[in-house]
Amino acid sequence: MKENIYIFDTTLRDGEQSPGCSMNPKEKVKMARQLEALNVDVIEAGFPIASEGDFEAVREIARSVKGPTIAGLSRATPVDIDRAYEALQYASKARIHTFIATSDIHLKYKLKKSREEVLEQSIKAVEHAKRLTQDVEFSCEDASRTDIDYLCRVIEAVIAAGATVVNLPDTVGYAIPSEYGDLIKTIRERVKNIGNTVLSVHCHNDLGLAVANSIAAVMNGARQVECTINGIGERAGNASLEEFVMALRTRPDSLPFQTGVIAEEIYKSSRLLSSLTGMMVQRNKAIVGANAFSHEAGIHQDGIIKSRMTYEIMTPESVGIKHSTLVLGKHSGRHALKKRFEELGYSLSTEELDNVYREFTGLADKKKEILDDDLVAILNNEVEKDEFSYVLASLQVMTGTGVRSTAVLELSDGRQSHVDSATGDGPVDAAYKAIERITKMNGQLVDYTISSVTWGGDAVGEVFVKVIFNDVVFTGHAASTDIVTGSVDAYLQAVNRALSARAAKSADDEIVRNQANAV
Ligand code: KIV
Ligand code: ZN
Repeated sequence: MKENIYIFDTTLRDGEQSPGCSMNPKEKVKMARQLEALNVDVIEAGFPIASEGDFEAVREIARSVKGPTIAGLSRATPVDIDRAYEALQYASKARIHTFIATSDIHLKYKLKKSREEVLEQSIKAVEHAKRLTQDVEFSCEDASRTDIDYLCRVIEAVIAAGATVVNLPDTVGYAIPSEYGDLIKTIRERVKNIGNTVLSVHCHNDLGLAVANSIAAVMNGARQVECTINGIGERAGNASLEEFVMALRTRPDSLPFQTGVIAEEIYKSSRLLSSLTGMMVQRNKAIVGANAFSHEAGIHQDGIIKSRMTYEIMTPESVGIKHSTLVLGKHSGRHALKKRFEELGYSLSTEELDNVYREFTGLADKKKEILDDDLVAILNNEVEKDEFSYVLASLQVMTGTGVRSTAVLELSDGRQSHVDSATGDGPVDAAYKAIERITKMNGQLVDYTISSVTWGGDAVGEVFVKVIFNDVVFTGHAASTDIVTGSVDAYLQAVNRALSARAAKSADDEIVRNQANAV
């Protein structure tokens, strides 16, 4: 009989707070819906007191995602906890996750508090959270470097105060599997009331051991694992959800545990996250990397042809990578497109199908065979458009060696079209300067990446940009067979997002002004 391990996904909190992985509230809701389809037990949706955007995202996810428990992070203070609850209150299952550091290093240098003060603050935090929600998780930050006697005292006290889950993070990724497993074992032996709580682990990957440490922990009694899609997270990241889940699925002989995760949703989750953040996984990443299931060496290929078991320990299908039964092209209709998306696990609304079909026919004019990854790129490319949006109407570039590139650009804002031109250091730079002239939005491009979704000269390229407008970073993403057009679309998405944020802010300021005038 396999024991159940709860999967606590922190892609939208620990993952999202790491550099290069930020998402806006709409994107976070989209990702949360996919995590719901993946059937994780808990979604940590954010850190509500950290920013307005985080608060809004947690509130929206709590309102709209009903399957998993929704958790919000808070430091161990009443203000933080209240703010977390304010965001979580509409969740059908809410969890307040409160934390404080317990290691002497953190107490001395960061918190400047004594062990007794931290113990008392921990108890008070859990009691406070418990008055708001039944489900309260307490984390001893830097647990793996905390004095074991003190750690046991804190754990016993917070369980007595009502913590339903106690989490022991390896915050700096310092632990090694044998030692981390022993830590969990010791705690289970020494903490009297440990049976009243679920013991959780949260491992960082600084030494590349996050998944190994999580496995060692469950072998010693931990029953919740905190992890992220693609292993994103602070510094070297967190334990990767897909690696942990597939290790359990592939080695039930040694690991008699199960999770509720629908493994066939893993690849889709990984692709969506990369599309939303621009953070691609390396080709040789376990489970979801482009090479994870490809066999290049002649001897391996020969073995695979004779029996897949020779070199394949799990199938690509088991994580949701499907092989085409149908290649789409210029003559494929809406029905074939809909059917292919269904085979890939996406059920599209009529509106989504209309949008995707429009993009698909454009792509089919340029590319003979449209592969599954192209289709997913088109779907993830769907741009949110509102009244502030500029759309590319036409683009001409002149470029060459020894000449400055020139771009002539026509943008439409839904009411009228605007034409301007600019020169620059290459066609993309020239086009970006022309966008600036038309939109009057002067941004600083801080990141630009381009990668091909499939292979061949007509492959679809995905472009990601990060642009700073008035000290705020906005991201943009687009997919196209033409890298200059893709680059323009991605930049325009960042501009449109900045314009829409500016409009939302001036609407808020207007309300405040009206309220002040009314007093
Ligand atoms: O790594 C860590 O210690 C954390 C806690 C806030 C849970 O992310
Ligand atoms: Zn962490």
